[in-house]
Amino acid sequence: MTSTPTPRRRAYVETYGCQMNISDGELMEGILESDGYEIVESPEEADVVLVNTCAIREHAEQRVLGRVAQLGGLKKERPDVVVGVTGCMAQRLGESLLDGGRRVDLVMGPDGYRDLPEALEKLRGPGWTPGNGSGSTDEVAPARKKVTELAVLDLSLGENYQGLEQRRSEGPSAWVPIQRGCDHRCTYCIVPYVRGDEKNRDPREVLQEIRGLAESGVSDVTLLGQTVNSYAVDGWGFADLLQSVARVDGIRRVWFTSPHPNDVTPEMVEVMATEPAVCEQLHLPAQSGADRVLKRMLRRYTVEGFLEKVEMVREAIPDVSLSTDIIVAFPGETEEEFQATLELMRRVRFDDAFTYKYSSREGTPATRLPEEDFVPDDVAQERLERLIDLRLEIQREINRAEVGRVEEVLVEKEARGEGQMLGRTRRNKVVAFPGEPELVGQYTKVVLETTTGATFVGRELGPQELVGTG
Ligand code: 5AD
Ligand code: SF4
Repeated sequence: MTSTPTPRRRAYVETYGCQMNISDGELMEGILESDGYEIVESPEEADVVLVNTCAIREHAEQRVLGRVAQLGGLKKERPDVVVGVTGCMAQRLGESLLDGGRRVDLVMGPDGYRDLPEALEKLRGPGWTPGNGSGSTDEVAPARKKVTELAVLDLSLGENYQGLEQRRSEGPSAWVPIQRGCDHRCTYCIVPYVRGDEKNRDPREVLQEIRGLAESGVSDVTLLGQTVNSYAVDGWGFADLLQSVARVDGIRRVWFTSPHPNDVTPEMVEVMATEPAVCEQLHLPAQSGADRVLKRMLRRYTVEGFLEKVEMVREAIPDVSLSTDIIVAFPGETEEEFQATLELMRRVRFDDAFTYKYSSREGTPATRLPEEDFVPDDVAQERLERLIDLRLEIQREINRAEVGRVEEVLVEKEARGEGQMLGRTRRNKVVAFPGEPELVGQYTKVVLETTTGATFVGRELGPQELVGTG
């Protein structure tokens, strides 16, 4: 007698937000794959659809809510499809996401992913397979009662997903989370409320994972954490871990994000300056250039303190490329204080800046500042535009001065134009250059020929030209 093969359950994960969340999306895919799911590329093919969300600003949430409602529509034709909302917004809005006509079955916060297979079984019955509705009978596992909706929202003191593998896309680059959660309490920020306190991964496990990645062909890793450089486990500080990662055989590029300025130590800078694999790039969130605003944000440094860190880094790595995060129109920010932020931008001359309008997040301390402090949206918008103009102006000047340089790039993908490839330099600058798709994943040298302001157009050096470029 021949039996028809059991169809595989298929899952689709759609991720929004920061690198940490992208990495969490890969973690969920890894967990589901280990549980026998096939990971598919579109919601239409999937039996389980997960929207992995971000809560950092209201705008991001609004967009995702619309998408969740749209995906809930899949249930019209296939009522068996499980639609789940995971990540920071799931943690923040909790069970309220289960009602409101969005047709959501599962809500799961960032510390719940280990239980994903179990949660899906609870929702669909034990051992369920697509097409048979509720799966096998309750006699198989009477303990697991089928439920129609489920919220998994516990934040854990210890969950750092030790021992679980992410499902990474092919290619030379990989994200490696070394820390989850955050012990700071910047008054505007929702992260500590939706991701809990700081939890660091064991350094030995991190290194083992990176050795494995290197063996499988990965040469470029980014260490992730909310305040990645406050990492501390069993006498290992961030500098120790960074150094060990940089020395793993086969690892050519190491990045990390996001550091907190206060934890930029001489040891960390020394490792950056001396380990050839650590890239000449640092993202250093300033948030504001005015002391009074920094204080009200509870950033725990002054402008002078921030500038000292910048100086320490530049002294050790003169060619370092710096980027930052800035929030405009934090409650109470005056025009003069905004001007001070512009002044900080002019003094540091960041290569890049991620700029945001303050977004009020329910439950954070800043929402309790006096109502008259809130900056009207038209003022906030106008400040944001001035800040972006300045950012672009500085970026253009810096990048124009870099035309003519020869840079090593890691080729990432094909550009949209015919025959053009996109590569990234060790200073995190994007270069388009004529080349063959076979170059993807390889390192090559290019000369920067022109700049659009933000990115470069270059030309790959031929073997003759490479002599003497190191
Ligand atoms: N409003 C605006 N921007 C925010 N960020 C974090 N919280 C908020 C908020 N409530 C920004 C900060 C942080 C970056 C990841 O997002 O600049 O560094
Ligand atoms: Fe949020 Fe501040 Fe923690 Fe960064 S350091 S995640 S801005 S609370």
